[in-house]
Amino acid sequence: MIILAIETSCDDTCLAIVKVSNKTRPRFKILSNIISSQVKIHKKWGGIYPALAKREHQRNLPLVLKRALKEAKSPKIDLIAVTIGPGLEPCLWVGVNFAKALAYFWNLPIVPINHIESHILANLLPPIRSKLKIENQKSPDFVGIPTCREKVKIKNKKIEFPAICLIVSGGHTQLILMKDFGKYKILGEIRDDVAGECFDKVARILGLGYPGGLIIEALVSMKSKVSRQSRDPDLSGKNQKSKVSLPRPMIHQKNYDFSFSGLKTAVLYNFKTQSPKIRKSKEYIRETAKEVQQAIIEVLIRKTIKAAKEFKVKSIILGGGVAANDELRKQFRSNVSLSQIFKENLGRQGFLVPPKIFCTDNAAMVALAGYYHWLRQKKKNWKDIEAKANLRLE
Ligand code: KG4
Ligand code: ZN
Repeated sequence: MIILAIETSCDDTCLAIVKVSNKTRPRFKILSNIISSQVKIHKKWGGIYPALAKREHQRNLPLVLKRALKEAKSPKIDLIAVTIGPGLEPCLWVGVNFAKALAYFWNLPIVPINHIESHILANLLPPIRSKLKIENQKSPDFVGIPTCREKVKIKNKKIEFPAICLIVSGGHTQLILMKDFGKYKILGEIRDDVAGECFDKVARILGLGYPGGLIIEALVSMKSKVSRQSRDPDLSGKNQKSKVSLPRPMIHQKNYDFSFSGLKTAVLYNFKTQSPKIRKSKEYIRETAKEVQQAIIEVLIRKTIKAAKEFKVKSIILGGGVAANDELRKQFRSNVSLSQIFKENLGRQGFLVPPKIFCTDNAAMVALAGYYHWLRQKKKNWKDIEAKANLRLE
């Protein structure tokens, strides 16, 4: 079976063609996986501007389809999977309508996909063995749009149930109990700014650009170089750990909700109290970035492990753009392996995090989700498919 998957919930126009063989023990092969990023366009706004994102999806989707079909050597498609929500409504509708048109013209079944679920199932995609190409397309089709694509065979990885899933992206921070494929319960979620948004807004305050998470991570990981070169007596004094100390919002609360807008505000206040010289200094910016990253990581880890213990889960699963953060992955791994849950229930394969390229938005994960829903007969007629900006997992 060959699945064509479409994802336009945010600012990436994504299309993948995935071949599934062997129904009982499925094997997946990604024939093409195209991601047309709009980062360059949204950079100047310091975040995503929905009307622009919609226009770019409209402009790019046919071109991305053409490229995906060419790379996959134009196979006969059997099923279409499309993200219907949650996400930016105008953007979702572009992908949904495109998918509906294809389903109508090719007379194909179509499966509606929840974006959060596809981030969870991205964990079943294995590390990429082939070399990943990230290129700046020069062809008129893709003016200035960086595209990445890869061809990989993917082996099945396993999720053991019950599982706790932490999905952290630019639009969502949710802690979900997964009892089986298709069976979810949201335990906690964000009350204000999500983790990715907090990274993005802090990066804007510090004048670092967009996307914030990626830039902050890169800046923090440059630490040794900067601190060795540090000459600023205000920030490089002996035994001075960090001048910037930020809160860990809701870390000790019993519930599983999150809140990161206070963290962003704390950064803003701290920034405003500094002299113009300090504000612009590399050391101050790096210390603030490091502290913000650490605050977010600590809250996410503490709440996830607490839920894992309470529900005696057999797997802990991460997903979403923020899960691409190396420090988060590293600290999660070590905290999980030190925790009691690891010794009692989890085992070696119990901590799952997707390959980095599959943490951020892509359509390969949508194809995978499409396959699991197709198995459960969730396919629909194209007429019944609608975008749902506030779609929830249940
Ligand atoms: O899942 P995603 O690609 O799109 C949404 O569904 O929102 O996530 C995008 C978010 C952005 O806020 C970006 O700043 C964040 O993921 N992000 C990161 C990293 N890479 C992307 N945050 C922290 N560290 C990273 N390496
Ligand atoms: Zn996403």
